[in-house]
Amino acid sequence: MKRQIDCKNLSLGYGSKIVLSGLNFSVSEGDFLCIVGENGSGKSTLMKTLLGLQKALGGEIKFDGLKPSDIGYLPQQTPAQRDFPASVREIVLSGFTAKMGLRPFYSATEKKSAENNMKKLGIESLSSKCYRELSGGQQQRVLLARALCSAEKILLLDEPVTGLDPQAQAEMYEIIKNLNKSGVTIIMISHDVNSIVKYSTHVLSLGKNTFFFGSVNDYINKNIDKNINKNKNFRGGDTLHE
Ligand SMILES: Nc1ncnc2c1ncn2[C@@H]1O[C@H](COP(=O)(O)OP(=O)(O)OP(=O)(O)O)[C@@H](O)[C@H]1O
Ligand SMILES: [Mg+2]
Repeated sequence: MKRQIDCKNLSLGYGSKIVLSGLNFSVSEGDFLCIVGENGSGKSTLMKTLLGLQKALGGEIKFDGLKPSDIGYLPQQTPAQRDFPASVREIVLSGFTAKMGLRPFYSATEKKSAENNMKKLGIESLSSKCYRELSGGQQQRVLLARALCSAEKILLLDEPVTGLDPQAQAEMYEIIKNLNKSGVTIIMISHDVNSIVKYSTHVLSLGKNTFFFGSVNDYINKNIDKNINKNKNFRGGDTLHE
């Protein structure tokens, strides 16, 4: 598959504070990469650096055949953001703002595409509702629909199911899996071992002094995460596309 992102000897951090260094990994079209690691290990910082929101302290990130507008982002949620006073439709449409330049209105194509993305995520009936009146699971779908409007090639998802009940988590994972099957490359931060093993093709594990990057099979077989019980069939019959 075609290489989309190549990171070599990457160092990340804030000013003089180095969070991670010597990081090497790559992402190809159709991959489902899970990023794992303890709190504070630098997962969100890595996503912000890939997005160009944060400058790399060293090394290089190469994008192959990608424009910045090909990458969509679902940030890690904070309670304040859950209180946003706008309608679902407005929030989903705002995914297009980066592409609009100085144009002060959404085009017919953008409106159509926002409707399609709301349908894909099963939230079209909520489109006139106020975002802050939705459940956590509904809010996450709205933000995912927004990310899809901003880009359809690669989605960066920072803990997309955190705070959701098990049913809403399962639905969110199904949606993400289907987006991946339809050709969208997924890079997802997750703390949930079962979902990593079930959905991802590759894993990047950020430790204090050690990194792992490889296929999900290697991640399991090399015992990178001691919490994975290899005797259990976590796969649940899902096929892996490598
Ligand atoms: N804006 C910032 N300025 C300075 N340091 C920061 C900033 N944001 C994060 N850090 C620090 O960088 C380190 C990595 O933070 P980051 O948010 O990337 O971790 P994380 O792996 O996403 O953690 P979590 O699982 O809790 O979300 C932490 O030590 C954190 O305190
Ligand atoms: Mg984080």
